[in-house]
Amino acid sequence: MTGNTVFDILLMAIFASAFLTALVLLLVDAPYGRHKRAGWGPKINTRLGWVVMESPASLAFFYFYFTGAHPQVLAGVILMLMWQLHYVHRSFIYPFQIRVKPGDSTPLLVILMGSLYCGINGYLNGSYISNYADHLNEQWLTDPRFVLGVALFGFGYYLNKRSDSILRNLRASSTTGYQIPQGFAFRYVSMPNYLGEILTWTGFAIASWSLAGLSFVVFTMANLVPRALANHRWYREQFSNYPRERRAIFPFVL
Ligand SMILES: NC(=O)c1ccc[n+]([C@@H]2O[C@H](COP(=O)([O-])OP(=O)(O)OC[C@H]3O[C@@H](n4cnc5c(N)ncnc54)[C@H](OP(=O)(O)O)[C@@H]3O)[C@@H](O)[C@H]2O)c1
Repeated sequence: MTGNTVFDILLMAIFASAFLTALVLLLVDAPYGRHKRAGWGPKINTRLGWVVMESPASLAFFYFYFTGAHPQVLAGVILMLMWQLHYVHRSFIYPFQIRVKPGDSTPLLVILMGSLYCGINGYLNGSYISNYADHLNEQWLTDPRFVLGVALFGFGYYLNKRSDSILRNLRASSTTGYQIPQGFAFRYVSMPNYLGEILTWTGFAIASWSLAGLSFVVFTMANLVPRALANHRWYREQFSNYPRERRAIFPFVL
């Protein structure tokens, strides 16, 4: 807790909404991608939707970090660069890499809810690191938590990006349909990109050693674990030859 009422309330709200999100997503598949269906209101172009949904995480972090009290601290600068490495790509590059049908659209409701969360998340993490993280001093750079966190972030980032790239290349040879992804971490799980995302933000939370970082990991898991279970079920229903030993998201476990 920081003593800043707005910050502390938003932080608690994220933890509470993570619990609700997991509950809802275990009952209802979010209506985008392979689970897209009619009846979810107005839609927005899919590529534009990704930009609108993800960019607040990058922009809010930039703003609150650089208008905060200590944006020049080296450990903070490294964390800021890690955050932006992911979010500049996710907001402004990834949407133009994915392969979608011309005119493909996504429910606006999904985009606006994601956008609201991303803005709050960018505020919480950027503001915390710049204003309240007194432990991010010179010594922190050699603290095992920082070193391990940065390494885990790097591993998760690689797993996420490589898995997303394999999926994109599957789409290249079949412009609308889905195929069974093979090789790399798909040997173990159906959704290694989601596992990579969870490891990325677990690494960030450890390296920043903050409740704001932890709230992001908890929310990411609340979002992606139910989605991975739904996608895994979907693969098994669609493909009678789907590898039986493959798990949904955590190798050998789930
Ligand atoms: N931090 C968070 O809470 C959060 C939340 C959501 C997403 N994300 C991240 O955002 C990225 C995209 O998420 P997503 O839910 O869209 O992932 P996804 O379902 O794996 O889809 C990724 C892309 O690959 C295509 N695709 C997926 N499986 C395919 C297959 N078997 N054959 C051919 N094409 C396939 C999808 O097309 P379709 O869209 O047509 O299915 C989409 O363009 C991931 O890296 C994920 O980790 C993060």
